[in-house]
Amino acid sequence: MKRILSGIKPTGELTLGNYIGAIKRFVELQQSMPEDEFYLFIADLHAITVPQDTTELRRRTRDIAAMYIAAGLDPERTVLFIQSEVKEHAELGYLLQCYTHMGELERMTQYKDKIKKGESNLTSALFTYPALMAADILIYDADYVPVGDDQKQHVELTRDIATRFNNRYRDFFRVPEPIIPKVGARIMDLQDPSKKMSKSDDNSKGYIALLDDLQVIKKKIKSAVTDSLGIVQYDPDNQPGIANLLSIYSVLSEKSIDDIVLDYASKGYADFKNDLAELVAEKIGELQKKYNEVIQSGTLDSILDKGKETASRVAYRKVEKCKQIIGLGRKR
Ligand code: AMP
Ligand code: TRP
Repeated sequence: MKRILSGIKPTGELTLGNYIGAIKRFVELQQSMPEDEFYLFIADLHAITVPQDTTELRRRTRDIAAMYIAAGLDPERTVLFIQSEVKEHAELGYLLQCYTHMGELERMTQYKDKIKKGESNLTSALFTYPALMAADILIYDADYVPVGDDQKQHVELTRDIATRFNNRYRDFFRVPEPIIPKVGARIMDLQDPSKKMSKSDDNSKGYIALLDDLQVIKKKIKSAVTDSLGIVQYDPDNQPGIANLLSIYSVLSEKSIDDIVLDYASKGYADFKNDLAELVAEKIGELQKKYNEVIQSGTLDSILDKGKETASRVAYRKVEKCKQIIGLGRKR
């Protein structure tokens, strides 16, 4: 039996990009691996490495948990929990900082990008964030970590930290493997298809929030930027807008891009966008309905309580053992 683990940060509204690139993928992975164990947590400790609004942070933390269940995550087969509710994450995060080199952290792209942007008052936790992420993974002896491309470097650093610790003391941490989606799992901005669809975007027409009004969603699809060629075909270099819409269509309809292109061979962009608008509204409508059921059912708290309990039990044992191996405290 393998253990699959991932985390998602509760920053910003959830978008169609998050759904296609992370949530739906995780649920499908769970369905395709019926024998395996799934750990999924809301990385609220990671979120506060940059300033967060108190009320929004709490709301989003719940929202994400509810959205995963709405998307089909099986709560019976998932240890679903909130990172900050399992104290050992912060504890192991500190311990692993003692086995992480400054140079390694300085090489992290995400950190370098922030520095390049010239943002002021960056926190020290933002710098040490990868050591906490390593702790999140190593504390549960995860075998596989499904993440987006941008997180691959952090999983690789996790492997290095685990290997360093194992070489210094003994074989203690399982060295995890990242699972990176195949190309195309990158949904682009509807108004500017050269950049990733993101909730932090200033132009709300560029992204679809999962809790957007369905009529607004349809409008956003219909007003997505395309080109003047007028042929529905998959050519990301010359027709990035249409290519992005085709990717969305393909994932949501579970049809291949080639089949969709054939369907629209003699039709124009207006027909294509109208049908896609209906499809996206239908799928997100179903998701919202389930999301509301989850919120109203009042089961979310018991799922998160159970997750916290299971995760805490596993994490406590691992961290106690880790401290003992290092020589901390009195226990041998
Ligand atoms: P973020 O919202 O950037 O913290 O990302 C949360 C998860 O959603 C990560 O696994 C990302 O790879 C994924 N994700 C975010 N935006 C997109 C997008 N536009 N297309 C595909 N996946 C995305
Ligand atoms: N850093 C990840 C992100 O920004 C979230 C995350 C935190 C994570 N801890 C993790 C993902 C452990 C996978 C495994 O998206």
